[in-house]
Amino acid sequence: MNNENNCIAVLTSGGDAPGMNAAVRAVVRSAINRNLKVYGVKRGYNGLLNGDVVEMNLRSVSDIINRGGTILYTARSEEYNTPAGVKKAADYCRSLGVRGVVVIGGDGSFRGARDLSGAGIPCVGIPGTIDNDIACSEYTIGFDTAMNTALEMVDRIRDTAQSHDRCSVVEVMGRRCGDIALQTGIACGATSILVPEKPHDIDTMVVDKILNTKATGKKHFIVVVAEGVGGTNEIAKYIEEKTGIESRATVLGHVQRGGCPTLRDRVMASAMGHHAVELLYNNIGNRVCALQGGKIVDFDITEALNMKRVFDEELYNIAMDVSI
Ligand code: F6P
Repeated sequence: MNNENNCIAVLTSGGDAPGMNAAVRAVVRSAINRNLKVYGVKRGYNGLLNGDVVEMNLRSVSDIINRGGTILYTARSEEYNTPAGVKKAADYCRSLGVRGVVVIGGDGSFRGARDLSGAGIPCVGIPGTIDNDIACSEYTIGFDTAMNTALEMVDRIRDTAQSHDRCSVVEVMGRRCGDIALQTGIACGATSILVPEKPHDIDTMVVDKILNTKATGKKHFIVVVAEGVGGTNEIAKYIEEKTGIESRATVLGHVQRGGCPTLRDRVMASAMGHHAVELLYNNIGNRVCALQGGKIVDFDITEALNMKRVFDEELYNIAMDVSI
C-alpha cells in the first residue's frame, strides 16, 4: 500500500464464534505494525451504513484474545443486502479513506464481501463460524471451542443418563453441516449420530442400534442429532415408544457459541487475521483466507463461494463402526 492508501477496516458479521476477538486482535496489530490505520466497524455491515466505526489502537485489542463473542458486535444486515446498501457502504468506506476491509464471518458475510469488492472496496474474508461449513477451508474459527463445549455438556448429560438407565437425545448446532454432531458424537461415544448430509432413518439408525446394543448389556444411550436434522423431541419420544427405554431430549443451543476460545481457535484466528492483513497490505483483495493441508492459503471469493463442501465420509464410517 502507498501512503494515500493506508487505512483498512475490520468487521465481524453473522453468527458470533469464539475466536473472533483473537482474529480482530491479529488484524489490528498486524495492520498497525505495517503503519496502517485501522477502523473497527460495529455490528457487521450495519456499521458501514450508519457510520458506526471506531479507530483501533494497539490497546483497544488488549485482553480480548481469551474472550468469546466479538467486541465489534455482529449482525445480519437486511439493508446492506441490496444494491443501494452495498453502494452506500462502499461510498462510506471511500469517504473514510478505507481501502480494504477484513470481514470475519461465514458464507453470508462473504457474499457481502464479494459485493463490496465489486463496488471497488477490496475485501478479505476470514472464516469465522462454529459450523465448519465453509467449503474452501478445512477449518473455521470457533469450531473447536463449540465442539469442546458440546462435548463437556454431553459428558454431564451422560452422568444422569447412566444413573437412570435412560437414553439422552442431544441436539447440537449445525444447520447444513453435521461436523459438530459427527465429531462430538465420536468423542462422547454416542450410539447414534444423525447429520443432515446423510439419510437419517430413525428405525434402522437409532431404534435398531439401541436395541442391538442393549442386547449386549448396555443400559444407557446417547444419541447426537445435528440441528439440521431437527425433530429432537420427537426422536426422543419415538425411541421411548419403540424401545421402552425412558428417553429425554436436550437442545444445547447457543451455549455452544459462547465461552473462552480454545488454543486451536486462538492460534488459527491469529494466523488468519495476520494473513488477511498481508493480502490487503499487498493490494490484494476479493479473497477468502482458508486452511488447506495445515497451511493458511487464500481463494478468490466467488470461487470460494461456488465450492461444494465435502463431507468427511471416512470419519462418518469410523463413527458407525465404533458405535456398537
Ligand atoms: O452458523 C452458526 C449457527 O450457530 C448455526 O449453527 C445455527 O443454525 C445458527 O447459527 C443460529 O443462528 P442465530 O440463532 O444467531 O440466528
